[in-house]
Amino acid sequence: MRLVIISNRLPVKAQRNNNKYTFSKSEGGVATGLNSLDIPMEMIWIGWPGVDVKYEEDKQYISKELKEHNYYPVFLTKKQIREFYEGYCNSKLWPLCHYFYVYVKHDNDHWSAYQEVNALFCNKVLEIIKDDDIVWVQDYHLMLLPKMIKDKMAGVNIGYFHHIPFPSYELFRVLPEREEILKGLLGCDLIGFHTHEYMRHFISASERVLDLNYNLDEVWYDDRVVHVDTFPMGINYKKFNDAFLESEVKKNVSQLKSSYNGKKLILSVDRLDYSKGILNRLKAFSDFLKNNPQYQGKVTLSMVIVPSRDNVESYATLKTKIDEAIGAINGQFSKIDWIPISYFYQSFSFEELVAMYYTADVALVTPLRDGMNLVAKEYVAAKRDTPGVLVLSEMAGASIELMDAIIINPNESREIENAILKALEMPVEEQVNGIKRMQATLSKQTVNKWADDFIQELKEIKIKNNELSKKLVDSERESIIKKRYDKANNRLILLDYDGTLVGFKPRPEDASPDEGLINLLSDLSADKKNDVVIISGRDHKTMETWFGNLNIGLAAEHGAFYRDNGTWKENVHKDVWNDDILAIFQKVTDKTPRSAMETKETAIVWHYRKVDPWLASIRSQQLINALIAPCTRNNLHIVKGNKIIEVKYPDCTKGSEVQRLLKIRQYDFIMAIGDDTTDEDMFNALPENSISIKIGNLSDAADYNLLKQSDTRPFIRRLSMASGTLSV
Ligand code: UDP
Ligand code: G6P
Repeated sequence: MRLVIISNRLPVKAQRNNNKYTFSKSEGGVATGLNSLDIPMEMIWIGWPGVDVKYEEDKQYISKELKEHNYYPVFLTKKQIREFYEGYCNSKLWPLCHYFYVYVKHDNDHWSAYQEVNALFCNKVLEIIKDDDIVWVQDYHLMLLPKMIKDKMAGVNIGYFHHIPFPSYELFRVLPEREEILKGLLGCDLIGFHTHEYMRHFISASERVLDLNYNLDEVWYDDRVVHVDTFPMGINYKKFNDAFLESEVKKNVSQLKSSYNGKKLILSVDRLDYSKGILNRLKAFSDFLKNNPQYQGKVTLSMVIVPSRDNVESYATLKTKIDEAIGAINGQFSKIDWIPISYFYQSFSFEELVAMYYTADVALVTPLRDGMNLVAKEYVAAKRDTPGVLVLSEMAGASIELMDAIIINPNESREIENAILKALEMPVEEQVNGIKRMQATLSKQTVNKWADDFIQELKEIKIKNNELSKKLVDSERESIIKKRYDKANNRLILLDYDGTLVGFKPRPEDASPDEGLINLLSDLSADKKNDVVIISGRDHKTMETWFGNLNIGLAAEHGAFYRDNGTWKENVHKDVWNDDILAIFQKVTDKTPRSAMETKETAIVWHYRKVDPWLASIRSQQLINALIAPCTRNNLHIVKGNKIIEVKYPDCTKGSEVQRLLKIRQYDFIMAIGDDTTDEDMFNALPENSISIKIGNLSDAADYNLLKQSDTRPFIRRLSMASGTLSV
């Protein structure tokens, strides 16, 4: 079993100089973080080498060099780099996910390029992966890829990790391609986020956009369970913590100390990005110097900005603004022997970077939005046992774990300014204690643990999905059922109606039977060996109108009524509905747009199929809470079904109706099909050796599973066809 990592960017990038290619490490959290993974598994990495390569021989050369490290390049054309990478990824998804709506650019060509490049990655992946590999797709560039792979290799275990924030539904819905993106992701078995907030947003977006029904952190999608969870990404703690022991790092530290010559050092390290809040930070530093003149000449801000995406307009503009702001501050405050900001627009080696972390008195990490932010974690780890203070934005994922940082809201530059002062004046003991506590957290939640946890959970989901697939009515299981059907002389066929024989409609009254269904039921019941019974929660008048002319058994309101030789009989003695209970139902219906109330003789139902999922979950809980006391007093049952809440008389269930039917005749083939909670009663009441089939979801009570409602009728039709004409 190998781990196949797929990310847009490989951990190394190729660069062309004088027609020769050289390789260097990539920047950014995904590449640096994953590249420091050290797990006992063969690892393969598929991604873009960061450069456009024109000639085939150059591609071959790069591929050969990278293969030595198990890296497999996907080459992008100039146009793809422009439209996919700079376009859809970094001018649409990135600003949207980081709440920079004004930077979002809509362009159809960008979307086409996104689809095209995801497909290109898919081709490369399919060339390389084997069935038992673990495929781990990384980040927003490749959100369509999981489905593309799953469509071609259904058995392969696929995970996806989203390294950036997942925005709230209100923002995500802006994306015209929201449906395709979510469906792409749901091709996975496991989807991971850094924080529970991103996870919550993802679940809420997919519930609303795709009308899915989550069961806590899982959703039944296509023929699988897809699991969603949080895994805060860590760093290779030991590597950063032990870095100071390396002689090169020690040398860099002493050089830094002598060049800053006793002055306090504040450090900030970011890729060039508007999400990093660099301009706010500069304003705060400038205000700090103005309002605290005693620190002028005594403190330096070392600002490292790693060049990134500078062909994207918003990044190029930002670069100009940063240059101007730094120029203005240095121009205003510099003295002969002191410049307030040391500005580096370049990237540094690991040994240089950790020396800066080790030396800096304060790290200023103030992004306006950041999925995680590894720099904050690296600073704390690299400190070893020296003092230091981390000033950290509450908008960075890392702020959830790093509780001993000075947490600020980066939108308020006054907060950053005050935090700088507080950090510079914090007693050493307090600094060391804070760093130690944060180190304790980081040393446990390492990047290895992050990957181990993810892979472990991915494996567990695969086992679970394998178990589930054992219940699926595939051609083999269908032919076993068919053989039993053909051999039998007295068959009882019990069918639920809504969600089983017909799909759900926004308004329940619209889900009337079509001609195809009526034909199916009459053909099925024309066979003398069959007793066909529809057991539904519908009221008996509706059932009579719809099916009165057919020669089939009918049970309405979950068995409270049944039709016997053409006449309806009642199983339940009922009183008139209690006014309090009616009023409770009426109130929740009035307060909940798109919900509806249905009053039957033995049950009252609140339908919320079309209600917003968040509102529906609140209102259902409120309804249940309000119903508990009056229902207990009146000995009534509260049942939670598929997007309904029902209060009913307790005497009858679909199970009691099955028992009644079984007393009338002996059968040598009994089959029940249903989709809802109330059908579980029917399954549980079946004698041994019966066939129970749950639609569209899992049930411990049922032996088999059909994927979706639309599979039911073809399945019944095939079963009832004379043997020999069966084609499955
Ligand atoms: N980094 C680097 N060289 C540099 C500056 C930064 O390799 O000169 C690395 C840094 O160590 C960190 C990553 O870039 O691991 C930045 O990750 P982070 O999560 O902070 O932000 P991102 O760039 O992913 O948004
Ligand atoms: C962020 C993204 C990564 C990306 C990195 C560097 O960390 O989450 O997916 O690789 O920035 O950005 P770049 O555009 O240079 O790959």
